[in-house]
Amino acid sequence: MYQLQYFQFPKDFIFGTADADLQVIGEEHTLKNENSLPTMWNHFAQSSPEVYKNQTPMSGIDRYHLWKEDIALMKELGLRHYRTSISMARIMDKNRKPNMKAIDWYKTFFEELRKNEIAIYATIYHWELPQFLSEKGGWKNRDTAQYVADHSLIAHKYLGDYIEEYFILNEPVQSTFYSYHIGEQAPGERDLKGALAAVHHTLLAQGLTFRALKSADKNVKLSTVFNPSVTYAASSSQDDIKSAQYAFGYHTGMFTDPTYLGKYPDYMLELFEGKMPQIQSGDMETIKIDHGLHSFGVNFYRGKITRYNPISDVRFEEVRYPQGVKNGMGRPVYIPPTYPEGLYDILCELYYRYHEHGMKQIYITENGASWPDTLNEKGEVDDEFRIFYLREHLKQVEKAILKGVPVKGFFQWTFMDNFNWSAGYRPESVYGLVHVDFETMKRTPKKSFYWYKDLLESHRLP
Ligand code: BGC
Repeated sequence: MYQLQYFQFPKDFIFGTADADLQVIGEEHTLKNENSLPTMWNHFAQSSPEVYKNQTPMSGIDRYHLWKEDIALMKELGLRHYRTSISMARIMDKNRKPNMKAIDWYKTFFEELRKNEIAIYATIYHWELPQFLSEKGGWKNRDTAQYVADHSLIAHKYLGDYIEEYFILNEPVQSTFYSYHIGEQAPGERDLKGALAAVHHTLLAQGLTFRALKSADKNVKLSTVFNPSVTYAASSSQDDIKSAQYAFGYHTGMFTDPTYLGKYPDYMLELFEGKMPQIQSGDMETIKIDHGLHSFGVNFYRGKITRYNPISDVRFEEVRYPQGVKNGMGRPVYIPPTYPEGLYDILCELYYRYHEHGMKQIYITENGASWPDTLNEKGEVDDEFRIFYLREHLKQVEKAILKGVPVKGFFQWTFMDNFNWSAGYRPESVYGLVHVDFETMKRTPKKSFYWYKDLLESHRLP
């Protein structure tokens, strides 16, 4: 598009980076120094065949000790907006009392960020469930929802002064369906009924947290982060088109409809007949937040193509075409023939569907590429693919803005290479602007770091 060559992002457009506490901190340090609660992910990673070499979040990238050095690099990047999570396994004990040692760590970290004029966007739940809660059923257990709301109150009471905006959840489809139905993520279960209970309780956690924080402080900015999937049918057959609708419902509608409309999509309820958990009276009112959300966060990595599968309990299966552009983990990032356009499509689709129901402004809360980066003889990392990926997606953001979709920010995933859940520390699964040697913990800015720095300064695609 002609205008894109000259596009200037508005002055107040937010460019940031994102990460999550458990992916960077090094759980061994918090267990030892803060008496934090062992996490479900640590437990799962040790034994699950889903996890690359059974690597755990124990070492992370030692943010616990290297925070000052990391903030200095953020400063060098010119970062002004940083999304991270406040871990419930750290700041709250089993009896829902604050863990002051962890809170003090966050205070020191946040104070240094403030000194460097870096605003903090805090995710309340980025999958840091303590193992003891997982043993009580995890997200299948309704009580988990209240634990999260209680954790948010502790976070706000002790750390709220530092927080610009909260994101209540991160990618609920991952922590529910992919964790309890597909079994790829912790705790690795494969039972649709259990997963549907997890979905309901996660949405309940979102609603309870929203209400708890709003009553503690009516001015607080509360938002949430989903990873809505843009889905296209593999063919024009009615069945395939229907499969794309089910895939959209599974990944997106099951979360966005309750949040903005206060109900689950009818076609999904029909599909899940007899499997939904008991919905208690008042639940849907608690879950519906609509106009209350300050921003809606979209994590976007790729699109999906689906075809109908009559045997599957969700009636769709993903089709992966060999000729698509792939990321370092072999996952298609472009649906052939092109497809960062998927980001544009999903932004328009969401905004048109929900803006009359309270969707105000949108942030891209994660976008980035994994690639097996290596240091060359000069000790540099030339990650052209990551730059290409980011540039193509940012063009789609520009297009959406020109189309009238109020996209107000973009958080690159992720500032530094880190522990990537089931992919562990697999070399192909790193997304950082900064390379981390997982043995020595040495940090080296990649080429994309300098590219992003340029963008942050000029607000224009380099
Ligand atoms: C998650 C991140 C993760 C990233 C890259 C998202 O699903 O929110 O925590 O590291 O994707 O895989």
